Order: sequence, then structure tokens, then C-alpha cells
Amino acid sequence: MERPRLVEILEIEEEGPFYKSLRFRDEKISGAYPGQFVMVWLPGIDEIPMAVAEIGEMSSITAERVGEATEELHKLSVGAKMGVRGPYGNGFHLPRDRNNLLFVGGGTGTIPLFPAVKKALNEQKKVSLVQGARRGDLLIYESKFESMPLKYHKCTDDGSRDYHGYASDRAEELINQGDYDLILGCGPELMLSKLAKIAEQNDIDSQMSLERYMKCGIGICGSCVIGEGLRVCKEGPVFDGSVLLGIKDFGRFRREESGKRVYYSNNL
Ligand SMILES: Cc1cc2nc3c(=O)[nH]c(=O)nc-3n(C[C@H](O)[C@H](O)[C@H](O)COP(=O)(O)OP(=O)(O)OC[C@H]3O[C@@H](n4cnc5c(N)ncnc54)[C@H](O)[C@@H]3O)c2cc1C
Ligand code: FES
Repeated sequence: MERPRLVEILEIEEEGPFYKSLRFRDEKISGAYPGQFVMVWLPGIDEIPMAVAEIGEMSSITAERVGEATEELHKLSVGAKMGVRGPYGNGFHLPRDRNNLLFVGGGTGTIPLFPAVKKALNEQKKVSLVQGARRGDLLIYESKFESMPLKYHKCTDDGSRDYHGYASDRAEELINQGDYDLILGCGPELMLSKLAKIAEQNDIDSQMSLERYMKCGIGICGSCVIGEGLRVCKEGPVFDGSVLLGIKDFGRFRREESGKRVYYSNNL
């Protein structure tokens, strides 16, 4: 297995009350595809998957503070070091003949969409983004998206910004009115399964990025397997919506570290 490379944190940016972006230089990650992820190693604590948030001479991850490892990432200062392996996984595919794209991100799911949105704009594609969060101050990269040439639709569960409701419901309204030729999503799995069904009903191709518990990140340990042996870290994390709709786990349950099933509550 590839050993983690130690990278120095060169810049830190607060992205709201619970999110921080950590910027660093790493040659391999500078060539990542939007939607790929890295394994971030914090010695003595854990190694966790994080999407590549910015890709280039300076790359970044954006971490939500949820537990021990991400708490530790938030404590790092400029000049501190962390280990990285990767980039891993497949990433989003933006075919040349698809020019009117709808991105739908929920919570931290917006993070892997961020570089894909930038790539689509660089390729002169028409981009609409539906972003959902519990509250307005949890809309990651809000001011960055506001400064981009895209149609930006914010949704909040508490109604504190624009649309009061779920991103999947707003996306359905837009799909019914629009002529999108590709839908790309990342976020809570119930949102993704709803989105994949809406895409199929409207005969639009879709790509959804999944999250599963990851240990090795390179297809060996089996902890991230869904359905009949698809490894989210290797064959994913991005899958065609049509493939996911044929998998019984999709939108129903994930597995925690021990392998025990955790069922999603159906409140979307
Ligand atoms: C492909 C992928 C990309 C991700 N990208 C991002 C990102 O860009 N930004 C971000 O903030 N989060 C991202 N996550 C989620 C992130 O990996 C977890 O929030 C993190 O591992 C939590 O670790 P912790 O020790 O802080 O919390 P813990 O208290 O250990 O865990 C909190 C929750 O995080 C999840 N989690 C913990 N360890 C793992 C693991 N090894 N693999 C998958 N999930 C885990 C579990 O659902 C757990 O219930 C991504 C996950 C995956 C699979
Ligand atoms: S994380 Fe080990 S096989 Fe995917």
C-alpha cells in the first residue's frame, strides 16, 4: 500500500462555524479529478477519507468538525503537517456533449461538487447548482458560489435562506421546468436516491457520489462495499444513477465501522 506523504498546511480558511479548508501542495493531488478523495492520516488518531476540494498547484480539503479526527484537523495551524494518500476513486465525468448541468449538493456533499462545478464552468458549460443545508450559515462556499457565473439555488431546512425545504424537492421543481442533460449529486443518500429516481423518470443521465465507511481506500479491505461487491473507494465514489437504482442497499442502509447496518430514516 502507498505510504502517506507528509504535507505542510500552508493556508487555513474558515468556511463557516463547523468547516475549515486546509491548503497544501502535493504533486499527485494537484492532478486529481473532481470528485476524487484522499486518505488523510493524523498520526496516533486515525486515517479518514476527505474529498479533494480544490485542485491545482495548491490543493485543499474542507473538513466538517464531527468527531475526533476532524476535531484534530481543525486544531492544526499553518506550518503543521498531516499525511495524505491518493487521490483515489473515479471522480465525476463531464462528457463533452453534455452542456446544461444541474449539480445538487447536500451538507458536506457540496465539497466534492466544488471542483466539478469549476471544471464545468471552465469548459463553458451552463451550470445550475442546488445547495441544501440545515441552516443558512451551514451553506459551504456560499460566497464563492455567489461570485461564479452559475444559477445558484440555496435551500435550507429552517428557511433562513431562499427556498424553505429540501434540495431534492427544489431540484425536482427545476428539472420539471428545465432542459438539463446531466445531473450530478452528492449528499445524504436519501436525497441521492430521490434525485436518481427523478433523473430516470425524466430520462436524464445522472452521477451520484456516495460515502461509505472507508479503511484502506484502495479496494482491499471490503469495508466500503455496496450491493453485489461494488467498492465505493475503487469503482466509485461516483456511480451512474441507473447503476445505483439497481442496488438494494442504495438509499436504505450503510455499514458502520464494525460492518453493522445503519438504516437511513425516510424523512425526505
Ligand atoms: C469518499 C468520502 C469523502 C468524504 N469527504 C469529506 C469531506 O470532504 N469533508 C468532510 O468533512 N467529510 C468528508 N467525509 C466524511 C469524513 O470522512 C468523516 O466525517 C470523518 O471520517 C469523521 O471522522 P471523525 O473521527 O472526526 O469522527 P467520528 O466520530 O469517528 O465519526 C463520525 C462519523 O463520520 C463517519 N466516519 C468516521 N470514520 C469514517 C471513515 N473512515 N470513512 C467514512 N466515514 C467515516 C461515520 O459516519 C461516523 O459516524 C467523506 C467521506 C467519504 C467516504
Ligand atoms: S475502503 Fe477498503 S475496499 Fe474500500
